[in-house]
Amino acid sequence: MKTIAINGSPRKGWNTHILVEEAGKGAASRGSETELFNLYDLNFKGCISCFECKRRGDKSLGRCAAKDGLTPVLERINECDALIIGSPIYIGEVTSAVRALLERLTFQYITYGKEKGTFFTRRLPTLLIYTMNVSEAVMESNGYAEKFKFYEDRLNALIGPAKTLVCTETWQTTDYSKYEMTMFDGDARKKRRDEVFPQDRRKAFELGAGLLTGLQSA
Ligand SMILES: Cc1cc2nc3c(=O)[nH]c(=O)nc-3n(C[C@H](O)[C@H](O)[C@H](O)COP(=O)(O)O)c2cc1C
Repeated sequence: MKTIAINGSPRKGWNTHILVEEAGKGAASRGSETELFNLYDLNFKGCISCFECKRRGDKSLGRCAAKDGLTPVLERINECDALIIGSPIYIGEVTSAVRALLERLTFQYITYGKEKGTFFTRRLPTLLIYTMNVSEAVMESNGYAEKFKFYEDRLNALIGPAKTLVCTETWQTTDYSKYEMTMFDGDARKKRRDEVFPQDRRKAFELGAGLLTGLQSA
């Protein structure tokens, strides 16, 4: 079994990367090999609307034809058994790199036929992990949860069952006093990092392990 894990944060070793790695370890605990990609190490663009993935009778039907740094990732995802995608929230959205990945990943499989459908012929379980500054209450009130549901639904329709893990009020820097960011209480964030973040890590591990549970018994 193979799990592809994607860190969609430019910062290695920070919140998103840690949770993605933890979910990958969960998958590994169920016997899966896990390969992690740091999206910001790759040189790629979002969908360029070439429509080659919709061209009749062509080998590119249902597959993204653009060739760049994302191509090997899309190929690995096309063949893997479980997928983990982590993104920080930037200006109320996934990072631009994750958005570009999602465009390329999902659009290639959309059939555009009269009957809604997908060119993806398997059901691939996916875990979406989001990390953010806001509290869970603000996340709900400012509409993030609806956005997360949208991505979950899109993946569910096109690729397979998708689950979501959210990690709120993250520790953004090791020393808040060095930056102009007085809206945050650095000590409270550090405390949360020490006390709540380990729970998020555990949840990521469990959800990562859970991705492969159905496959093992199948
Ligand atoms: C450019 C930028 C925009 C951000 N916008 C938001 C936002 O709209 N909402 C939010 O809750 N957090 C926002 N954040 C905070 C990050 O989502 C949060 O700190 C996240 O956990 C960072 O992930 P990382 O530690 O893995 O890099 C933003 C951070 C940056 C750098």
